[in-house]
Amino acid sequence: MGETVTFRVHRYKQGDAAPHQDTFQVETEPRTTVLDALTAIRRTQDPSLTLRHSCFHASCGTCAMKVNGREVLACVTNVRELGTAEVVVEPLENAPLVSDLVVEMAPFFARYNAIDRPLVRESELVPGAQRAPGVERALRYEDCIECGICVSVCPIAGTDPDYLGPAALAAADRVREEPRGRDLPFVLSLADDPHGVWRCHAAFECTEACPSNVDPAGHIMQLRRALIGGRLRRLFAPRAEVGR
Ligand code: SF4
Ligand code: FES
Repeated sequence: MGETVTFRVHRYKQGDAAPHQDTFQVETEPRTTVLDALTAIRRTQDPSLTLRHSCFHASCGTCAMKVNGREVLACVTNVRELGTAEVVVEPLENAPLVSDLVVEMAPFFARYNAIDRPLVRESELVPGAQRAPGVERALRYEDCIECGICVSVCPIAGTDPDYLGPAALAAADRVREEPRGRDLPFVLSLADDPHGVWRCHAAFECTEACPSNVDPAGHIMQLRRALIGGRLRRLFAPRAEVGR
């Protein structure tokens, strides 16, 4: 059965003095998603509404936004299941605002590129290929859909614009586990930077919000342990040699 839902949508165009919200009424069906509703608004009410989307099935990461105050993928967020008479739609946090629901993702990808993220999935490994010692299987990092949700929810990313961020640090940990030709010392030096793993306050918001089960906070904690282990080994190795 059709049901009319009110959408309050964040609006901002370059040159505006400040953002505001516009209100739209949208006819919804039981399976209508927030992305369906927003594209319907564009199609039938206001073609100037800007948003990103591509796959419509939680795969490309482009439709990440805040819905009723929570970071989600709009394409798999069912409107009825929100259970609210009004749906408030806003852009991600901790990224420069471009227009309406669109934020600038270039800084996010610049951090990823610095890590030179590994892209090979377990399923893509050549049969018989050797894995790094101690790594039994490719972990889920490669499931990252690069949506930016983890950065949006991160309290540190909100206060330190140079913070490497959850997704890039998760990638760094994957490089540590499986360097696969990457410059590991360089990646570890980025992670060991004051704007790297040590800035994380272990809020675990990123892991909670990640729509793809990447567990960025878990990777950050793992990376910290590895870095501390490396320091301890360097500290005690000479003594051990002296004692021999
Ligand atoms: S780690 Fe998760 S939340 Fe962060 S960009 Fe990747 S998929 Fe999105
Ligand atoms: S449109 Fe691709 S993840 Fe939502």
